[in-house]
Amino acid sequence: MRQVDDDRLMAFVGKVIGDWGALASAPLVVLGDKLGLYRAMTDGTPVTAADLAATTGTHERYVREWLAANSASGYFSYDGDGRYHLEPEQAVALTDESSPMCVLGGFEAFTSAIQVEPRLAEAFRSGAGVGWGEQHPGLFHGTARFFRPGYAANLVDNWLPALNGVTAKLESGAKVADIGCGFGHSTTMMADAFPNSTFTGFDPHGPSIEAASKAAAESGKAHHVDFKVGTAKDFPGTGYDLVTFFDCLHDMGDPEGALAHTLSALAPDGTAMIVEPFANDDVAENLNPLGRLFYSASTLICTPASLSEEVGTALGAQAGEARTADIARMAGFSRFRRATETPFNLVYEARP
Ligand SMILES: C[S@@+](CC[C@H](N)C(=O)[O-])C[C@H]1O[C@@H](n2cnc3c(N)ncnc32)[C@H](O)[C@@H]1O
Repeated sequence: MRQVDDDRLMAFVGKVIGDWGALASAPLVVLGDKLGLYRAMTDGTPVTAADLAATTGTHERYVREWLAANSASGYFSYDGDGRYHLEPEQAVALTDESSPMCVLGGFEAFTSAIQVEPRLAEAFRSGAGVGWGEQHPGLFHGTARFFRPGYAANLVDNWLPALNGVTAKLESGAKVADIGCGFGHSTTMMADAFPNSTFTGFDPHGPSIEAASKAAAESGKAHHVDFKVGTAKDFPGTGYDLVTFFDCLHDMGDPEGALAHTLSALAPDGTAMIVEPFANDDVAENLNPLGRLFYSASTLICTPASLSEEVGTALGAQAGEARTADIARMAGFSRFRRATETPFNLVYEARP
């Protein structure tokens, strides 16, 4: 039996209690979002459970417990006498979907993702995959919400301009495919910014393509944007000036095959833009809070998704630049570089 240091054991269990709290309180954020509880508190006026229940059409006894739990999490401030208020920063993060700091999508996505656990236990034993489309439906909506703020803050203003000559082509009129587009937020953001260009979003997941098409139709904007069911290895068309992959290459079973097909679909001077979660090449350098999040999501979602598809490369969400560059070169791209980055994403440019 190895010697146990009681102080280190206590410190470790103390850390785990914090993690239990995060786990147990995560569904409370989803409830607060769904029921409009946070939105009813955005102006910062201190409220009691009775006030909040009355304005949101909810039951006071539930709301009282929810307010106390959120306060213990540090999501509200407690003013005493059963009154709570949202600080302006908490209000932005918990209610403002247009802010790059909005955190709601992550709660929806990750509380949905943990529901795959019983299937994963079996998959760990058998090595079988769990396809993207087999996940809880909340994951699809939540993932789109999770990524959208970062794309809104960076895609048009920073990421596209970091690519060689791409913005000029988009301004004058380019043909673009957005692969693994999910709910299509990246596709419509680009279409809104570049009305002379034509955009098609492809994804094998039918319900996501339906959601993307519906949102584009309801936006009332006359952009040249279309959504079609298709995989990265069979999307139709040639002569694309730009083919984009937003946080999806590593989810694919055959990223090399996907990039090889992309190369054959690109115009001779076209560009592939590959946006991946931020990662360093060495595991040891990813052992931090963001790496924890991405490795965990990768274990629950991305790795099983890739293993469910042909080839089953299972790059993982923390593949890093060196491994991604290898895949692009094996697919036939001669030029590959990190065009830019944010704390959350690496943006690569691959060219024929
Ligand atoms: C993490 S989601 C990202 C979705 C979207 N790009 C976004 O940023 O919100 C990964 C997407 O990859 C798609 N995907 C999985 N395998 C694929 C494949 N072989 N070809 C194209 N898309 C694929 C999934 O259906 C899913 O929509």
